[in-house]
Amino acid sequence: MMMPANGHRAHGFSSEFFLDSDEIIKELNLKGSEIIMDAGCGDGHIAIKLLDDYIDSGIVYAVDVYDASIEDMEKYRLENNVKNLINIEADITEGISQLDDSIFDVILMVNVFHGFKASRKLDGAILEFKRLIKNDGKVAIMDYKKWDVPKGPPTQVRSSPDELRDLFNKHGLKMTYLNEEIGEDIPEGKSHYFIVFKKE
Ligand SMILES: C[S@@+](CC[C@H](N)C(=O)[O-])C[C@H]1O[C@@H](n2cnc3c(N)ncnc32)[C@H](O)[C@@H]1O
Repeated sequence: MMMPANGHRAHGFSSEFFLDSDEIIKELNLKGSEIIMDAGCGDGHIAIKLLDDYIDSGIVYAVDVYDASIEDMEKYRLENNVKNLINIEADITEGISQLDDSIFDVILMVNVFHGFKASRKLDGAILEFKRLIKNDGKVAIMDYKKWDVPKGPPTQVRSSPDELRDLFNKHGLKMTYLNEEIGEDIPEGKSHYFIVFKKE
């Protein structure tokens, strides 16, 4: 596995080498004051990009189930004296018990959601996102298109935007945005989609 550029430990591939974090973050139209979670932060390169260039008066939460990733993010926070970064080691699908309801403007997941399908814990994850977002908050998912292509996770754990829309609808969240022209250029087209859900 390729070592993340920032040297942090990550359980899974860092998207830093093949996705443009600015392209992803710009999809969120941030003002800078948001409370935002990088859910499944891995090496934390997206959380760090948010802190460096997009979030000034807001707070970034970096959450991952992999203890080493969170240890490295804590080291980063302390060494750089970052005041508005909160790192949490937690399994999102089991609930993040230390967090109160309705605190997030945005929960962002990049290349994470398909893992919940693989572990058959989709409903637990969606219910937790619904609990954690504010009434006008958003859940934003960037993930691989459901194509049978060599790069990325197996096709059977990928979801199409239509499948996600139906699943989130079941839990009272509606799709408010979809961009299917985003990600890496592969022979079949753009590798990813970016989809946003809000409370009904
Ligand atoms: C493919 S990596 C993507 C990391 C990062 N988002 C990126 O774009 O580089 C998936 C990450 O999700 C984390 N993850 C998977 N399941 C999780 C769960 N149930 N709760 C929290 N984190 C999870 C993994 O530990 C891993 O760091």
